[in-house]
Amino acid sequence: MMLVRNFCKNSVIQIRRYSVDALKKKSPKILITGGLGQLGVECAKYLRGKYGRDNVILSDIIKPTSEIVNDGPYLFVDILDFKGLQKIVVDHRVDWLIHFSALLSAIGEQNVPLAVRVNIEGMHNVIELAKQYKLRIFVPSTIGAFGPDSPRNPTPNITVQRPRTIYGVSKVHAELLGEYYFYKFGLDFRCLRFPGVISSDPPGGGTTDYAIAIFHDILRKGQYECYLKPDTRLPMMHVKDALRALSEFLEVPNSKLVRRVYNVTSMSFTPEELVAAMSRHVSDLKITYRPDSRQDIADSWPQVFDDSEARRDWNWKPEVDLENLVKLMMKEVKEKIVLNGLD
Ligand SMILES: NC(=O)c1ccc[n+]([C@@H]2O[C@H](COP(=O)([O-])OP(=O)(O)OC[C@H]3O[C@@H](n4cnc5c(N)ncnc54)[C@H](O)[C@@H]3O)[C@@H](O)[C@H]2O)c1
Repeated sequence: MMLVRNFCKNSVIQIRRYSVDALKKKSPKILITGGLGQLGVECAKYLRGKYGRDNVILSDIIKPTSEIVNDGPYLFVDILDFKGLQKIVVDHRVDWLIHFSALLSAIGEQNVPLAVRVNIEGMHNVIELAKQYKLRIFVPSTIGAFGPDSPRNPTPNITVQRPRTIYGVSKVHAELLGEYYFYKFGLDFRCLRFPGVISSDPPGGGTTDYAIAIFHDILRKGQYECYLKPDTRLPMMHVKDALRALSEFLEVPNSKLVRRVYNVTSMSFTPEELVAAMSRHVSDLKITYRPDSRQDIADSWPQVFDDSEARRDWNWKPEVDLENLVKLMMKEVKEKIVLNGLD
């Protein structure tokens, strides 16, 4: 009898311990803003694989395809509407915010007032929101947060930042505001400076877009006209590495983070080096070069990004090199063409 009673007591203790552990390990509820751009859809897929389909809410101001809606929760969220943001966080009990909404470098230069609203006013809204509801907030920054006065090869984590695009100015503003909220209010602000991110999805109007467009044009038309000079070196990373970096960084305990903002990268290459790597997979590539205003932007950006602090503090390590990037892109862009047709 005594034995049975002890067994029951121990089992209750065990069950209590398991349920406390389960509660501790509860998946975070994540909201992604600007989620229908180049990074958001892939990011939602990645994080849903890790935290569960319903724990990752994708949002944007764009009407979604039925595929997006079938893949998981999707909501209309305008980052310029503070009350709307509050309602979503409360109604859906959001824990983490991944803030992707932005106008990128080339597009931002074409519409500066809108870039100021979306990139700067939008940032004011999400950071206040994160403070009010004690959210962990991730905001991506970029190599575009540096300028012609920064050392370009390599560009360290902490150095001069005097960008000459509204995109870069807004990202430096986001980095500084996030750090300020961390020191002043203890906000769990986290930021990675990404290089050009390469994936088979259409890019959003940045200066590194050529490294995506070249695969689409070569596989569709057999030729590509590049808007950068052949020897323009820029840091890059495949979306697989970018999302792994984001996901690992979000999980790092605060005690390990020496900074709130880290450089991450996988490689650096020029258009002619990319073409050389592609020519090992496709014969007779027809590439012409006609630099436009994006050349000036690229000439003020880092050529090689120093991510040694991320490697040191939270064990960041890239996995996709140029050869693998070309292999992945060839496969993924071909699949997209089969799915969507040649146009
Ligand atoms: N793609 C890259 O190579 C790269 C590199 C470095 C940093 N980043 C950063 O990562 C983030 C995502 O980049 P991306 O390439 O997916 O951008 P993208 O331009 O493809 O997507 C941005 C999204 O923001 C949305 N948006 C615009 N105004 C909005 C508003 N008022 N409310 C809500 N959403 C709004 C747009 O509809 C769009 O879907 C951006 O902050 C960008 O600065 C991207």
